[in-house]
Amino acid sequence: MFLAMASKLSAPILFSLIIFSFSSQCPPASAYQKVSLALYYDTLCPGCSEFIVHNLSKIFQNGLIQIVDLRLIPYGNAIILKNGTVVCQHGSKQCGLNTVEACAINSMPRNEYFEFIYCVENLIFRRKTSEWVSCLEKTPKQGDFIYDCYVNGLGQNLKLQYATETDALWPPRDYVPWVTVNEVPLRMDFENFMKYICKAYKGSPVPKACQELPMDIIPTKAKPNTKVCGIDDASPATNIRPRV
Ligand SMILES: *[C@@H]1O[C@H](CO)[C@@H](O)[C@H](O)[C@H]1NC(C)=O
Ligand SMILES: *[C@@H]1O[C@H](CO)[C@@H](O)[C@H](O)[C@H]1NC(C)=O
Repeated sequence: MFLAMASKLSAPILFSLIIFSFSSQCPPASAYQKVSLALYYDTLCPGCSEFIVHNLSKIFQNGLIQIVDLRLIPYGNAIILKNGTVVCQHGSKQCGLNTVEACAINSMPRNEYFEFIYCVENLIFRRKTSEWVSCLEKTPKQGDFIYDCYVNGLGQNLKLQYATETDALWPPRDYVPWVTVNEVPLRMDFENFMKYICKAYKGSPVPKACQELPMDIIPTKAKPNTKVCGIDDASPATNIRPRV
């Protein structure tokens, strides 16, 4: 019946019929609304590299990344002067690395850019920041792109774009790492971000990683986290600022 009808239709119409009939079917599991997870961070803030390396990376191992729409915003607590110059909390090295990571985010698929950022942040965490270039060598093609992006002005534009996005946060960030799940900031409970992701996800099946998590959200006892970098306070990071 379909075939008999189809023979009378022109190819473009047939094509659009096929596409429409597919798109009106039951959505596949991946069509459930993903949970948006955003990390506002500074490349050289110790609390950020620790979070990226030891906590965030877990969702790439346990499969949660499948239900997450991840955004990394490497800008942190920088400020923009009236003449457009960006001044970073931990100096120009940090501005440079923020731009490098911004370029990576915009040039590679998610899994690959995360691998690159993991590589850089892991070195920063281990106080080997100056070795970050070795991460570029692991992905030579993207390495060229990142370099071009950094020197040709695209990186600068990306930085301003991230600045705008960071400054538009509501409620505004008080420090970085600043983690939001579906736009709600987790504040000092950011290390428990996986629980918030699982709680926010409405799809089925429930990812295995969620079934394995204790689902009660009991905010971690407000122990002062000395590794976060506050907007007005460069002190914790100044003390441990890695030499680049
Ligand atoms: C912008 O202003 C700052 C501080 O006044 C100055 O150090 C810097 O050189 C200026 N940059 C440009 C591009 O004019
Ligand atoms: C996050 O990583 C730190 C450092 O490895 C670890 O001590 C902490 O338990 C992790 N947090 C969670 C909620 O897994």
